[in-house]
Amino acid sequence: MAAPILVTGGTGTLGRLVVPRLRAAGREVRVLSRQRRQLGEGVEVVTGDLATGEGIDAAVAGAGTIIHCAGSSKGDEVKTAHLVRAATPAGARHLVFISVVGADRVPQTGRLDRVMFGYFGSKLAAEEVVTGSGLPWTTLRATQFFDLMYLTVSWLARLPVAPVPAGIRFQPVDTGEVAERLVELAQGPPSGLVPDLAGPRDYELAELLGGYLRATHRRRPILRVPVPGRAARALRAGANLAPDRAVGRRTWEEFLADRVRPVGQAADRPA
Ligand SMILES: NC(=O)c1ccc[n+]([C@@H]2O[C@H](COP(=O)([O-])OP(=O)(O)OC[C@H]3O[C@@H](n4cnc5c(N)ncnc54)[C@H](OP(=O)(O)O)[C@@H]3O)[C@@H](O)[C@H]2O)c1
Repeated sequence: MAAPILVTGGTGTLGRLVVPRLRAAGREVRVLSRQRRQLGEGVEVVTGDLATGEGIDAAVAGAGTIIHCAGSSKGDEVKTAHLVRAATPAGARHLVFISVVGADRVPQTGRLDRVMFGYFGSKLAAEEVVTGSGLPWTTLRATQFFDLMYLTVSWLARLPVAPVPAGIRFQPVDTGEVAERLVELAQGPPSGLVPDLAGPRDYELAELLGGYLRATHRRRPILRVPVPGRAARALRAGANLAPDRAVGRRTWEEFLADRVRPVGQAADRPA
């Protein structure tokens, strides 16, 4: 029987779209989660915690390919280090990592940069762990997922006045398309840093919020707030965008139309 593919973060927003695509491609799948769960036929769940390294040896045992989607707002370099420390002696043949567009372009020079935008520094450090691991690897950098932007705008819309960072644009991408690309990469040879994956167009957060407010028939004053620091300056200059890689097919407007139902119907269903 073919070795299972391990998906870390296989219960998360991205990972739970990766798993069924691997199954549809006929692959046995193992998911690492911090909690015991049942994820259906052909999907084995191994419990472990990448933050401590507990349970990771069992998760990587016999897995030829690892798609590393587990992550959080900070500490991804530590989680990734625990993963490669276990995967290397286990003989993993391909580590596929999801990073973020701008990981290498958002400076982390001041405390403010790290407090507000430390996520980018942490993803870059995690990329370096992958690169230096000695394992054959592939890293894909993607822009912000539609689901993340949706969470952000739906949270902002609950405030009496919605603050948005002035001048920072986003080029969100469909999470399913990122999952599709990761599955394709995992089934190919280790390819190093592959071309970025970004959505079809970029928007100010105020525009994304505006689209959400219109779709949910709400109004909110929007306040553009200047953000200080070098990281914010880099973002205003487009460090998180990939205009040459606007290859995402699904638009934010299509995503919103699917996710938000007209008033009177049950709103906010998953798209
Ligand atoms: N969201 C975006 O816009 C975006 C854009 C570009 C790249 N990315 C990257 O894509 C990846 C997935 O993002 P996402 O939005 O799907 O994240 P998410 O929905 O927050 O899911 C996080 C996943 O990571 C797992 N996880 C977290 N801490 C863990 C730990 N200590 N040990 C083991 N598993 C742990 C969780 O599993 P359990 O809770 O089951 O343990 C969960 O499945 C992340 O690496 C993120 O940096 C995200």
